[in-house]
Amino acid sequence: MNEVEQRKGNIIGYITHDVSDKFGRLLLAEGTPITDSVSRKLEERGLVYRLSSTPLGNRRSKTIGLKRLNAKPFKVPVKLDKKFDRVDGEALGHASKYLNILLRQIQEDKFFSNNIKVLSQGHKATYSHSINVSLITVAMAQKLNFTLPALQKIALGSLFHDIGKILLPKSILNELGSVCDEQSLIYQQHTELGADLLAAEYLPAEIYLIALHHHEKLSGNGYPNQLKESDIHLNAAIVSVADTFDRLTSSIFHKNVCSPDEAIHEILSAKGIDFHPQAVDAFMELFQGNDLRETL
Ligand SMILES: [Fe+2]
Repeated sequence: MNEVEQRKGNIIGYITHDVSDKFGRLLLAEGTPITDSVSRKLEERGLVYRLSSTPLGNRRSKTIGLKRLNAKPFKVPVKLDKKFDRVDGEALGHASKYLNILLRQIQEDKFFSNNIKVLSQGHKATYSHSINVSLITVAMAQKLNFTLPALQKIALGSLFHDIGKILLPKSILNELGSVCDEQSLIYQQHTELGADLLAAEYLPAEIYLIALHHHEKLSGNGYPNQLKESDIHLNAAIVSVADTFDRLTSSIFHKNVCSPDEAIHEILSAKGIDFHPQAVDAFMELFQGNDLRETL
């Protein structure tokens, strides 16, 4: 049985009602398939829920299509953070345009729209990090000439790469300004929890393996499974570079925030060691036109 089948096989039931945390924030929407590990995590948090052994409504293998618009869509901010100043404006413009289309598309999908709402309302830092990571990822994938279907998958995977964090206690997330995330085994569970949520929704491996592998490193020093080289899905290897750039330059993850140039330097110096060379090359292409040599 391959990894995809294994994850889908772990489904123990389907949530029969929306589940919220003690602050009333929506965690899981009615109908969400639940795996063993997600169920354990809900129990650890003392959350009460009921499961149905059969899917609710007409659930089937997921297709993602362009549908009509009801609610106000989420958008890439018009004024981006200063860290994007060094990125090629044209590449950023194309990526931003694509991401806004995708954010409109997912408005009509219950799973995606609920989860983006969960992030934006209860996990604001993770929400803006996810938008930033998605923006850089899409720009990199466009440099790598991804086809439109492949672009959609990597964009969705990058948008929801940290979705497992919604099941972690808030205290763990709040600690991260002072504690290195790699030291926290609980924090590391967000990769597997996120992958479980996405895989149980019958999303393809190109999407959920991003959640599972985005903290793996080519050297085998990553988590959760210390995978090496080609065992790491290329989509996740790309997102890993975008994720690292945004984390190094964000105060929510590090006490000592790096400047964009320092973050670029760190990524470049780990090319072929921790980061996939092709992903680093695509990332560096985003800075063409800006002479980095002067600053690196
Ligand atoms: Fe993460």
